[in-house]
Amino acid sequence: MPVHIRPALADDAPLLPSVELSAAHVFRHIDGLSWLADTPTMSVERHRQLIGLSTCWVVVDADAQPQGFLSAERQRDALHIHEVSVAQSIQGQGWGRKLVETAMDCARSYPLRAVTLTTFKHVPWNAPFYSRLGFQPEGDKRLADILADEYAHGFEAGSRCAMTWWVSPSKGA
Ligand SMILES: CC(C)(COP(=O)(O)OP(=O)(O)OC[C@H]1O[C@@H](n2cnc3c(N)ncnc32)[C@H](O)[C@@H]1OP(=O)(O)O)[C@@H](O)C(=O)NCCC(=O)NCCS
Repeated sequence: MPVHIRPALADDAPLLPSVELSAAHVFRHIDGLSWLADTPTMSVERHRQLIGLSTCWVVVDADAQPQGFLSAERQRDALHIHEVSVAQSIQGQGWGRKLVETAMDCARSYPLRAVTLTTFKHVPWNAPFYSRLGFQPEGDKRLADILADEYAHGFEAGSRCAMTWWVSPSKGA
């Protein structure tokens, strides 16, 4: 079967940390962020937990091996994306965009009000990419708390932003 996206299964969990590690190589050439390529990945246990919520998806290759994933969970009336990672070997082929669009479709069909995330403001495949998908640089107290926690864990002050994609833009904010 060609490369495709499907809901993540518990058996995928042990395979996802190596996908995240491979994906993070893309940060090696970003000034001040190369350390991200060597930071610990999300644990297998955490992946299992999030997969159990049925709001995680994987990109699988022709050999049925996961090469990308998006982990999210429902937080209040939003689907919050914790992580999107696509292995280095298949980056730049549209799979990251398709994973985020899958989360947007899920929020639409629940229905939830929004998809939210926090990300780097100036990394080309982070905030600028989400903006092109229709995410706005805005967030509520829940997202402000997540940002505060990220800064407390060492991200450079001002480097991150919260973003929100409204399922029905007229009902947002
Ligand atoms: C972000 C990530 C998942 C994108 O995966 P991908 O499969 O390469 O994504 P796509 O091919 O769909 O590209 C996504 C967008 O990023 C842009 N992009 C991707 N790689 C890029 C690069 N090296 N330089 C500049 N822009 C890039 C593309 O132009 C595209 O935008 P568009 O669809 O509006 O044209 C992948 O780069 C990754 O795993 N990065 C490391 C982890 C990370 O940053 N996760 C996001 C955390 S919020």
